Amino acid sequence: MKRIAVLISGQGSNLDAIVRASEAQDWPGRVVAVISNRADARGLQSAQARGIATEVLDHKGFADRAAFDTALARLIDQHAPDLVVLAGFMRILTPEFVARYEGRMLNVHPSLLPSFTGLNTHRRAIEAGCKVAGATVHFVSAELDHGPIVAQAVVPVLAGDDETTLARRVLAAEHVLYPRAVGWFVKGELALKDGRVTHLGHEPQGWLAGTGA
Ligand code: GRF
Repeated sequence: MKRIAVLISGQGSNLDAIVRASEAQDWPGRVVAVISNRADARGLQSAQARGIATEVLDHKGFADRAAFDTALARLIDQHAPDLVVLAGFMRILTPEFVARYEGRMLNVHPSLLPSFTGLNTHRRAIEAGCKVAGATVHFVSAELDHGPIVAQAVVPVLAGDDETTLARRVLAAEHVLYPRAVGWFVKGELALKDGRVTHLGHEPQGWLAGTGA
């Protein structure tokens, strides 16, 4: 069984989607720990309800980013994960932390990377007049939202969309996309070699999601 540690800061809907997929599809992997930098992250409660170990490490208690990341790595490593999954973890990571989990740390970003790295992706996509938007799962590299791309889902930007409606549509696509990518990893179908993604499976790695809500 591959061991998955999930890092969150908020509602944890991607975490839920991953846990549900791991159980429903009987993956050779399970979420063994959920770690949050915020004690009020809602995702902690649903993890606890499912009997998953949870940890809170408040970044405000540390002098600097490096000290927090060192403590975070120590906490993660106590759970001996094969894969670290960032699911709405709102922290910029130090290069040392990223290097420690190279090739075994994934992130989901709510845009079609390399467009719209960083925050406010939906507003910026609407303002730019984009006709499609989407989500990207990528291996984490030292540069924020720039790691090698694993999979993408595309959704339409509809006339009359605002940030809220587009965010909802993209998030629904994430809930399909991210579990698929994590599933590939735990089944040994996905790897990072020499900075490039190799994928041995047969499922498409990019696709158009439904229009959703
Ligand atoms: C998602 O939109 C994800 O792409 C971004 O943060 C959000 C997390 O949502 N990184 P949730 O906490 O998984 O519901």
